[in-house]
Order: sequence, then structure tokens, then C-alpha cells
Amino acid sequence: MKLSRRGFLGAAGAAGLAVTLADCGLDPSPGQTAELLTSEAPLPEAFKVPLPIPPVKKPLHTRAGVDYYRVVQQKASLEILPGLKTEVLGYDGLLPGPTFDTRSGRTTVVEQVNQLDVPTVVHLHGGHTPAASDGWPLDLLMPDGGHHGHAGHSGMTGGDVKTGKRTYTYPNTQRAATLWYHDHRMDYTAPQVYRGLFGLHLIRDAEEDALPLPGGEREIPLVLADRAFAADGSFLYPAAKEGPGVEAKYMEGVIGDVILVNGAPWPVLEVDAARYRFRILNAANARRFELALDKGPAKLVQIGSDGGLLGAPVEHKTLVVAPAERFDVVVDFSQYEPGSEVTLLNKLDSGRAEQVMRFKVARKAADDSNVPAKLSAYAAVPEPSGLVHRQWRFRRGEAHGHRGWTINGRPFDPNDMQASVKLDQYEVWSFVTDVHHPVHVHLAPFQVLRRGGTKPGPYDAGWKDTVDVRPAEVVDVLVKFTAHKGKYLIHCHNLEHEDMAMMAAFETV
Ligand code: C2O
Ligand code: CU
Ligand code: CU
Repeated sequence: MKLSRRGFLGAAGAAGLAVTLADCGLDPSPGQTAELLTSEAPLPEAFKVPLPIPPVKKPLHTRAGVDYYRVVQQKASLEILPGLKTEVLGYDGLLPGPTFDTRSGRTTVVEQVNQLDVPTVVHLHGGHTPAASDGWPLDLLMPDGGHHGHAGHSGMTGGDVKTGKRTYTYPNTQRAATLWYHDHRMDYTAPQVYRGLFGLHLIRDAEEDALPLPGGEREIPLVLADRAFAADGSFLYPAAKEGPGVEAKYMEGVIGDVILVNGAPWPVLEVDAARYRFRILNAANARRFELALDKGPAKLVQIGSDGGLLGAPVEHKTLVVAPAERFDVVVDFSQYEPGSEVTLLNKLDSGRAEQVMRFKVARKAADDSNVPAKLSAYAAVPEPSGLVHRQWRFRRGEAHGHRGWTINGRPFDPNDMQASVKLDQYEVWSFVTDVHHPVHVHLAPFQVLRRGGTKPGPYDAGWKDTVDVRPAEVVDVLVKFTAHKGKYLIHCHNLEHEDMAMMAAFETV
């Protein structure tokens, strides 16, 4: 089974495709920027497992302005497919990890303890984080005594290596938003996230609290992912026999045939006939989703993006979500009769992978929530003239002696600062692609100025930290880094591309 051609052509258009093929000599019928891995285990029946909600992490203690947490990275055996056990690498042994529920301006301090048998690195994706806590890919946390992980094959060292535990400090000096944390170990991010090292980190603030949005039981995270399973229930992942990354065959990215939401396959959620707020995160390694409800009249009403609330809601019939992107969405189930079943679909695929999860509208219920026409003080920043302009070209290429992916023709090298960027001033960055690449920038959010030379696309609103750049496309963004000087990253968030060297370092000065 292949991803539908619609997914590829719908995004690029025939003209864009022609440019891509001419440009990089691809097989004329790729249809996807990923390779499907098929499960050996029987696929479970859909809409049987109730949607799990990741537990909210409790602080160990709380002092003036600071909340202290401890997370243990450990193996656990979880029943993901009914009747089978899957060994995961989990924050607190969970998949997804626990959710951090934090306040803007209050510092979160997390002591991470590594009881796995591999080195790890934790990155808070979307965080305005000092470099020392940002999860530089060589700032390894080596396993606790007894386990002998090794630092990696690439021979690149020079990071701040710690053993057993490491403390990460997140000042949360940013507006309310849906962030997530995940592993960022050099060359091994894809397999380690695949095995379970990812979770949500929410930031709330007074501006958002003042809104009458659905909350409590009606504010629900939907963390999307896909996996493939061996016959015994273990995760299938095509790790390369030697060296970093994946088998060459899977360098386009790994997609699986089981769709997970909050770690459960094709789950079902019973809902009141009322408004719900869904914080959607695409935590898949390489799969893009085009979400849609199978029945009207309700629409997906977007209220926020990666970097928090939009200025005003945007209605979508379908919502394209690339890896690492977040969409904050309200669905009004009061438009359905109690007893209705509404399925969340993925229009980019067919067969089992076309289904994501199901909602069962159980009962009528009181609802005093609302989606106001003005959500926040957010406004697009008008593009000043005379800005520094940088180009970042995302292409296939030679990376450390094998086929891989490059930025500006260079594979990731932690000692190669591709740019030196002054704090506190806007720059225009252009992302240029050959095939599909979801581009992510650390430290600061950006606004999309232009897509393909014209206006931004329907999914580009608000402050973003990840943008889905389609084949042979140019996306211009406006970005400004503040507060923290140090080494940061720009990379493709297709995790196989990232591990195959599609990452670049820059420094803020
Ligand atoms: Cu979500 Cu540098 O990553
Ligand atoms: Cu990030
Ligand atoms: Cu990529």
C-alpha cells in the first residue's frame, strides 16, 4: 500500500512535481516522502479501545516561581495491541510520557534520570529555552550505573556528557501554547522517539484563562503517531545494521500501518453533545495527516497553532498536520444527534490508515463554552524592509559517507555553525526543498510570510515553530531570536531525515 497520490499531488501540484523530479532525479512515481513498514502482528479492530489521556505530571515540590519534577526514563512493557506486549522506552515508562501542565513565566525544572541502556537527550520542542537545557544532540545523558550505553557511532564528541541524571531548566518565558518534549540524541532521535520518548508540555497564561473555551474534561490532547509491530508485539523499526540512522531503503522516512492516538490504536472517545477543545500533535516520525470528520455539519475550528492562540479562529474542513506541528482545535458535537458516531479520518491515506479514531456522541449536555471571534492579542508582524535574509536549502545529498540529507549541501556537523544570528532583530529565512520536509527551528517561533512567492497557506496562521514545506517549494518566514545566546538547531522533523544528517547548527550572538 502506498500513500495516495492525492497526498503528494494535492500538495505540490503537477508543476511542482515536475520541478522536483527534474531537480533531484527521483523515480517519477514516489507518491510519498516515506516508506511503509507493515506489521506482522494482526491489526486490532478499530474503535474498541477507549482513548487514554496521558497523566498530568505532579511536581515533587514547588517554591517561589519554580516547580521541580523528576522523570525516570525506563523500559516498560505495555499492552498497546490487545493481547500483546510491547517494550517501550518511556518517560516514567509511559507512551506518550506524562503531560507537563505549566504556567507562563513560572520555571519548570526537570531532573531526568536515565535507567535505559542507551544515551538520551531531552528537547522541549517549541520552548524558549537556554542553550544548556535545549537538548543539544551531543549533550548526552548516559545510562545510570550498570548499563553500558555508548555515545554513538559517528565519533563526534564535544558535548556536555552526564551520567545517570541531568537537570533541565525551562523558564517558560513565552505565551500559552502546546509544546512537546522528545528525545534528540544525535543520529538516534528517530528510533528513540519511535520507541516512546515523547510527551506533551502545556503552557497556560492569563490571556488564555480569560477565554470561555472548553476546558476540564472537554480539553483533550490528541497525540497522533503511527507504528508497525512484530508478531510478538514488539515495535518494528528498520535500524541500520551499522552506523547511525535507518536502513537505506527507509531513508525517506518510516511510516507504520497502525495509527495510535495517545498511544492507543484507533481509539474511541465518548463525548457529550458539546464543544471540545483538542490539542492535536503529530508525533509521528514521518507521516503527515490530513484530518477530517466523516460527517457534517461540524468543522474543525482552529484556535491555536504551534506557538499558541491565533488572533481569530479559522475554520477547516480538512487539516493537514505535518510531523511536529500542533493544531489547537474546537469541535462542536452539539450539532450531532446523541447516538451519532463521528470518525476522524486521515485523507492522505487509504485502507486502515485512513481512519484515526472515533467519537461517540453519548448524550445532550449543558455547555457554557464558546469560541470568541477575538481569541488573543496576536497580530501578524508587518515585514520590515532591509532585513538580513538567509536561505536554508533542504536536499538529498552525501552525508558522512552514505546517502542522506543535507542543509545547504552540508550534512549535520555540530562544529559547523551555518549562521551567526543577532538577538533581538527580525530576519527573513527562506526554506527551499526538493521533496517534502517539515522544517523546525529551535528557540524562537516564526510567522509564515509567503509560500511559493504568494500568500501563506491555510495551515500557516499564527506563531509556528515547524512548517510543512512541500516538494520544490520556497517558504519565507519572519523570525526573531531573543534572550538566549548559544548554539541552536534548524532541522527537518521527518526524524529519519534528521538522523540522516538533515540538521544544521547556528549560534545566537
Ligand atoms: Cu522537535 Cu529539534 O525538535
Ligand atoms: Cu525543537
Ligand atoms: Cu526532510
